[in-house]
Amino acid sequence: MDAIWTLGNQDTPRYAPLNADADADVAIIGAGITGLTTALTLAEAGQKVIVLEAREVGGGVTGGSTGNLYSTLASGQASIRKKWGDEVSRDVIRARSEAVDVIEALIERFAIDCQFQRQPAYRVEPANDSKAGYDWDEEKAALADAGLDVEAADHPGLPFATQGIKISDQAQFNPLHYVQGLATVASDLGVIIHEHSPVRNVDHKQGTVTTDTACVSARHVVYATHTPKGLNLLQAGMLVSREYAVSARLKSGHYPEGIIWAMDPFHSLRSYRQGNEQHVIVIGEKHKTGEQKGDHYRHLQEYLQTHFDVEAFTSQWSAQQYSSPDGLPYIGRLHGQDTVYLATGFAADGLTWGTLAAMIISDQVLGRDNPWQARFDARRITPGKSATQYTKENAHVARHMFKDYLSTEKLKEADEVAPGQARVAKVDGEELAIHRTEDGQLKVLSAVCPHMKCIVHWNNAESTWDCPCHGSRFDCDGEVIEGPSYHPLARRIR
Ligand code: FES
Repeated sequence: MDAIWTLGNQDTPRYAPLNADADADVAIIGAGITGLTTALTLAEAGQKVIVLEAREVGGGVTGGSTGNLYSTLASGQASIRKKWGDEVSRDVIRARSEAVDVIEALIERFAIDCQFQRQPAYRVEPANDSKAGYDWDEEKAALADAGLDVEAADHPGLPFATQGIKISDQAQFNPLHYVQGLATVASDLGVIIHEHSPVRNVDHKQGTVTTDTACVSARHVVYATHTPKGLNLLQAGMLVSREYAVSARLKSGHYPEGIIWAMDPFHSLRSYRQGNEQHVIVIGEKHKTGEQKGDHYRHLQEYLQTHFDVEAFTSQWSAQQYSSPDGLPYIGRLHGQDTVYLATGFAADGLTWGTLAAMIISDQVLGRDNPWQARFDARRITPGKSATQYTKENAHVARHMFKDYLSTEKLKEADEVAPGQARVAKVDGEELAIHRTEDGQLKVLSAVCPHMKCIVHWNNAESTWDCPCHGSRFDCDGEVIEGPSYHPLARRIR
């Protein structure tokens, strides 16, 4: 099932794949919020821009996001203040507030129909939950000292008693309709967008971006791909995780308003109206990519059923997150490259970081100063703040690199896999990812991730092959869905 944002989406313009070599001032890889905001900004400044999207506009993590726009971080302001201190905590709020204002201004200026509305954000826990133990005073002080309007409050519309805090003047929208609107405006301004054009190689020295069919030559290249494609030092130490979402219609018609983070231990809740229908959405069940265990969608359905009078479930989807080791995103020029740019490490807060990334990268391309460029510099080295996660995630990758090869089961024939099953197995000395569809079709792929040779794992919730090392994900036919791998899983004829 697709994300709820696709409801009522019939008249979306589509863009032809790249089928001939082309030149541009700027080649942007990825047509999500980062890529399209960058493209639009640069086109307005007179740059010739080509955007290459592997799937469809907003079809990656932007279209799988919550549609929540906020100045703080979903993980809480106190943790970033503890790690970085008061000045950075304030900068995070100021930079992200500016980014939300930019989104609002673009929506107004170009009349983008995406249901943008200012809403408060609530961070709450079940009232009188002695186990929760969240430090509200600390979080409230961190938010207030960073410049936000915050007060102690429960959530007025939740069907269970809560205690916590309220942050005024945040926002919500439909993220897919927003980026589709950006694409239309950018296209009208001369940006050339190509969908279904996965990039297979980027040559930084030559400034060439190559797809299966053609090549774009550009003075500047922007990786707006959530994580840079290919090998990049920033992938080491990044925590890659997936989170799930379920939406439902309620019998009562009483839907909670605003952005709600329920610390129970963590669910994100919001409502969404499409036409005459309203839906409540819950997001949670986070786990490391490639380590899916249990029925995450069912758990979220049960959560909704426990707290709300569910009439029917209407949608379910999941999305990926890259969390940087020092807690801030990496935005700007690549190490050793003055005309290649990236944006990654957005954690769960990507719509706002993605917009900020577009502001910073556009200014860098145009040779303009940006007040936030140094703060979120992709070239920064912060060993003191990164060491713990960096060590942990590198050990995690090393563990998978060795353990997964050593523990792969042996099969005589790929044929042994039953309908509806997926297994990673060694057959004739080769690690294979074998999936038999419910109707009996056998799909056999190499289980070796083309990025850095880790073994992929089956994700039962999504029917995908997910790599636990740096988050490359592949569909049942091996094609890349997202992540750093340029290339699909190799097909094996059986
Ligand atoms: Fe890096 Fe698979 S994503 S090895």
